[in-house]
Amino acid sequence: MTVNLKGRSLLTLKDFSKREIFYIIDAAIELKEHKAHGTLQKKLEDKNIALLFEKSSTRTRCAFVTAAVNEGAHTEYLGKNDIQLGGKETVEDTARVLGRMFDAIEFRGFKQETVELLAEYSGVPVWNGLTDLYHPTQILADFMTVKEELGTFENVKFAYVGDGRNNVANSLMIGAAKVGMDFRVVSPLSLFPDQDLVEECEVCAKESGACFTITDSIEEGLKDCDVIYTDIWASMGEEDKIPERISLLKPYKITMGMLKKTGKEDVIFLHCLPSFHNLQTVTAQKYPDICEVEDEVFESKFSRVFDQAENRLWTIEAVMVATLT
Ligand code: CP
Ligand code: NVA
Repeated sequence: MTVNLKGRSLLTLKDFSKREIFYIIDAAIELKEHKAHGTLQKKLEDKNIALLFEKSSTRTRCAFVTAAVNEGAHTEYLGKNDIQLGGKETVEDTARVLGRMFDAIEFRGFKQETVELLAEYSGVPVWNGLTDLYHPTQILADFMTVKEELGTFENVKFAYVGDGRNNVANSLMIGAAKVGMDFRVVSPLSLFPDQDLVEECEVCAKESGACFTITDSIEEGLKDCDVIYTDIWASMGEEDKIPERISLLKPYKITMGMLKKTGKEDVIFLHCLPSFHNLQTVTAQKYPDICEVEDEVFESKFSRVFDQAENRLWTIEAVMVATLT
């Protein structure tokens, strides 16, 4: 498949076509195989990459660093207290400085506008490592995992259960519309996705053959599903909403009973992580009802969450190589 992504940014999955998404997933699968065979090539030697993090991260940060090292590039981690971004210096000026020194910039933070300004003013590819609105690199790893497990996206029935208006839900919906899946958002009415985004995705779905169901009914949403996906109930920056979200989302906690409702013996469970699935973390001890998934499901044979976490590395590496070479 010939696809040229050189010089392009990934600010939202809207930026990539179906063909480009498929290309990245296939390239990521190849990189994973190369690593297994010891045949990875260093395609990004002499490249310098800035990693800007306003919010914390385990997977995304480690994926960007290890992907860069695999390819021979150098990374510089710039945390929220390390640079002036938006504090003593405008995002526009920071972008122009970073663009003179680095070949690409990753940004994780709050406002989508920040990542867009970085792309507009830096003159180098910018990758969105998560904002309040979108998490595009996550979805590439999720879809790579679906491809590895199911071999296809055609006729795949994929249910996202939980906070239907967060960054992961938004990006899954865009991705599903592009690749043509039967996608369901199962959440309480007050957490339904933004109607403008639904309408935008429905236009895209007409071309790809995707279909959407937005429902508060677990029965309707999970019927015949191949994939059940959830995320934490209060995203980074929404910590004050935890009690409210627990009372809204408790009926949507993923249980073995819910997996059975799909009627599929080989249904898979996905989660972007981090997850509350037991009471062994400080936050879960403070809010014992915070778990969005039962430990039994998380640790079950249906769970592919750690394959999905590993695939963050390969998909991010594929995006870096494709946009920089
Ligand atoms: N899934 C994900 O983005 O994880 P981190 O927050 O650890 O980067
Ligand atoms: N919705 C979550 C995703 C974490 C990877 C958050 O924004 O915190």
